[in-house]
Amino acid sequence: MDSAGDRWNHNLHYHPVVISAIPAGCQRALDVGCGEGTLTRQIRAIVPDVTGIDLDQPSIDLARAHPDASDIRYLRGDFLSYPFDPGSFDFIASVAALHHMDAAAALGRMRALLRPGGVLAVIGLARPRYPADLPADLAGFIVHRYYLMTRSLWEHPSPIVWPPPDTFRAARALAADEMPGVRYRRHVLWRYSLIWVKPDG
Ligand SMILES: C[S@@+](CC[C@H](N)C(=O)[O-])C[C@H]1O[C@@H](n2cnc3c(N)ncnc32)[C@H](O)[C@@H]1O
Repeated sequence: MDSAGDRWNHNLHYHPVVISAIPAGCQRALDVGCGEGTLTRQIRAIVPDVTGIDLDQPSIDLARAHPDASDIRYLRGDFLSYPFDPGSFDFIASVAALHHMDAAAALGRMRALLRPGGVLAVIGLARPRYPADLPADLAGFIVHRYYLMTRSLWEHPSPIVWPPPDTFRAARALAADEMPGVRYRRHVLWRYSLIWVKPDG
């Protein structure tokens, strides 16, 4: 697997959540907002047919130039409009990209592109809502300081949107609306995850 090596950041930290959601026998996967492709390469170590899509040309250039890019298909384009075939992926992943898009439209598109029984794994960013989110924010700050002392922080080169438009609460409600039965988890380093298995039939 192309691991992140000794690089660390808040998104890389949660890649194992995504990788562990890859369904058994997965043949075809998509990484939405793949950036320079670290996660895409990690998925390719497990899945034979992998596509990464990103709007940002410099990110796609970096992804394609990586020595482990192997046969990964990298597309420069808008996930919301790229002509993928409905129901054509066993697994769709997206890390730190949902808040760049109209999140309802993006989740709806991910749902449509998964085959029945396929799995979606999202790591998302959201905004805190005070005072309710103050304890979670403080815990995040302490854990963040700990990792900064023990890891080397790697700033990814891809575009950033800050602050995220949705609160954690709104992101959770939206995901539950778009994907009934979705497993939402809030993580300490200011991220949430969504894991959803598309129902059969
Ligand atoms: C914060 S970066 C995260 C990149 C990578 N997933 C990571 O974790 O390092 C978000 C990425 O989403 C991409 N993006 C935003 N809107 C997009 C869209 N509609 N279609 C494809 N990619 C998009 C941006 O260009 C950017 O590279």
